[in-house]
Amino acid sequence: MSSPTPDRRTAGKPMTVPLVRARKRRDGAEPLVMVTAYDEPSARIADAAGVDMVLVGDSVANNVLGYEDTLQVTIDDMARHTAAVARARTRCLVVGDMPWMSYHLSVEEAVRNAATLVRAGAGAVKLEGGRARLPVIEAIIRAEIPVMGHLGLTPQSVLAMGGYRVQGRSADAAQALKDAAKALAVAGCFALVLEGVPDVVAAAVTEAVDVPTIGIGAGPACDGQVLVFHDLLGLGARQPPKFARQYANLGVLATEAIAAYAADVRRGTFPNDDESYHASSDLQSALSLEDDEIESPA
Ligand code: KIV
Repeated sequence: MSSPTPDRRTAGKPMTVPLVRARKRRDGAEPLVMVTAYDEPSARIADAAGVDMVLVGDSVANNVLGYEDTLQVTIDDMARHTAAVARARTRCLVVGDMPWMSYHLSVEEAVRNAATLVRAGAGAVKLEGGRARLPVIEAIIRAEIPVMGHLGLTPQSVLAMGGYRVQGRSADAAQALKDAAKALAVAGCFALVLEGVPDVVAAAVTEAVDVPTIGIGAGPACDGQVLVFHDLLGLGARQPPKFARQYANLGVLATEAIAAYAADVRRGTFPNDDESYHASSDLQSALSLEDDEIESPA
């Protein structure tokens, strides 16, 4: 199995926001690699594989907590999962996803919620949306918290979009996406996720902004790529989406392993002698004596 080649300028160093910000492919940088992680083991595994960033995505809702959509998770849920990921003490940058309703009510509340994720261990936060989010993005950045933008198919807008639909398909929509990306970059976002947009639109947006774009379902021209941990490893309940490449089928392997354990227990071959603790012969004789006493009541 191949692992990503870390950029030679950043290999081995802890990944920071300025190092990510500098990774534009047109300037000769290698593509950024991001994957979601939701707990200590998944963060440890992703970090050991050499990724640049782990995103504690609000997709924890669908992939871990069994919800239909991402609208169900709260800032407390995200802080708990961000803290678990941070305990893996990764070299890569931990990005905490701001859930729906954590940055929609007021600028002040948005800054407070972003700080909650930082105190939980995030090195940056991500939030969805275009120009409408500029006041919130600017305020969070003024509070010294780096922000990653997220444009295109924004899953928190599922109700407004009427489903998970590819965005930017018309010339006007593509232009609006490009304008929004420029505005977010000018506001100070250090990177932009582009989700569910045609490859040529992602290429045009990537060309138009000085910050790295990180694609998911956005074709190969972005400055980096992000995949969901469970899609990449075959751990999800659903068929992975068209854009997700599945590199392993750990769900099947895990089911087979647990079925083998169940069979061993049922046929009495687990645990065996090596898997059991043993006591001294004195204790063994004392126990048999007690058994004799129980078996022959006076
Ligand atoms: O929550 C998530 O998994 C995301 C990625 C799809 C970018 O936001």
